[in-house]
Amino acid sequence: MTILLIGATGMLGSALRAQAFPGEVMSTWRERPLPHGIRFDAKEDDPRRLLSGLQGRPSHAVLLFGQTQIDACARDPAGSRDVNVSAMIRLLTCLKSEGITPVYCSTDGVFDGGGRDLREDAPPNPILEYGRQKAEMEAFIASEFAGRPHLILRYAKLVGLETGRRNLLGEWVDDLERGREIRLAKDQYFSPASLADAAKATLECARRDLTGIYHVGGPERLSRIEIFEIVRRVYERLQEVTSVVTYCRLNDLPFLEPRPLDASINSEKLYQAIGRRFASVAELCECEMPIRLRI
Ligand SMILES: NC(=O)c1ccc[n+]([C@@H]2O[C@H](COP(=O)([O-])OP(=O)(O)OC[C@H]3O[C@@H](n4cnc5c(N)ncnc54)[C@H](OP(=O)(O)O)[C@@H]3O)[C@@H](O)[C@H]2O)c1
Repeated sequence: MTILLIGATGMLGSALRAQAFPGEVMSTWRERPLPHGIRFDAKEDDPRRLLSGLQGRPSHAVLLFGQTQIDACARDPAGSRDVNVSAMIRLLTCLKSEGITPVYCSTDGVFDGGGRDLREDAPPNPILEYGRQKAEMEAFIASEFAGRPHLILRYAKLVGLETGRRNLLGEWVDDLERGREIRLAKDQYFSPASLADAAKATLECARRDLTGIYHVGGPERLSRIEIFEIVRRVYERLQEVTSVVTYCRLNDLPFLEPRPLDASINSEKLYQAIGRRFASVAELCECEMPIRLRI
């Protein structure tokens, strides 16, 4: 079995490449070249050429690519739809004719934030442009691939302790290390998932030929404040904390669209299917903080 990762240079793609068995994945890149990778721009390039140029036919294609920034989608709905919807449909159509199973990377952002611990059968009701594009693709796949294998993975916020923007826990550790002020929304809930666990689970879903929709979230519904307190507690045992924490409401922050307040999802169906649950935020911090702080 080989798995094609389309858009493999990003956060999840990098984790998938790190977790895959040797020779298990083929990867595409657009701007940042990957050793042995294939250059592919989903907006510009013909997906039939991508598939016909591969060495062997993959069993699955993980569709990672796209405009993944929520505000960028809101700022430019037409431009983001070009890649997230139009290019995605072109690729899905080719995968269907080649008999390759699509693994579509969706999001907890297909929900409106008014529910809690939502399961896979809860009806999507996106309030973000990003979520509307994702929900549209979910519906397209459900209808185009009805009766054929397909996988829709709805990821919660993926987290780890590596440094860098977009990585919530790692960003807080950066702030704590520099003594920077940390601003927390007190009314936001979600089910953060370890990036490494989510990558492993994605590969396991493909290896097990699972089909249908699965939520890929952590085992807990936590507020942003609760998550930060876990990070701070573990950090404080190793380093002094000088950062000042201030609080606000999520939608006091200058987003282009109001954000869902409760994005928590229930991932029991996935845990049953792969035979294990993901690490809690505390387990993740206990395990990764000493490595991150090189202690
Ligand atoms: N990370 C999360 O917490 C999270 C949560 C829920 C859902 N998801 C979903 O999971 C998927 C992967 O997320 P991610 O965080 O890894 O995203 P990411 O870090 O933003 O990476 C996106 C990838 O898409 C590629 N790409 C962008 N435009 C492209 C184009 N026109 N043609 C080909 N490739 C293109 C990028 O390549 P270049 O860098 O070369 O442009 C990059 O490799 C996305 O569909 C995202 O919506 C992620």
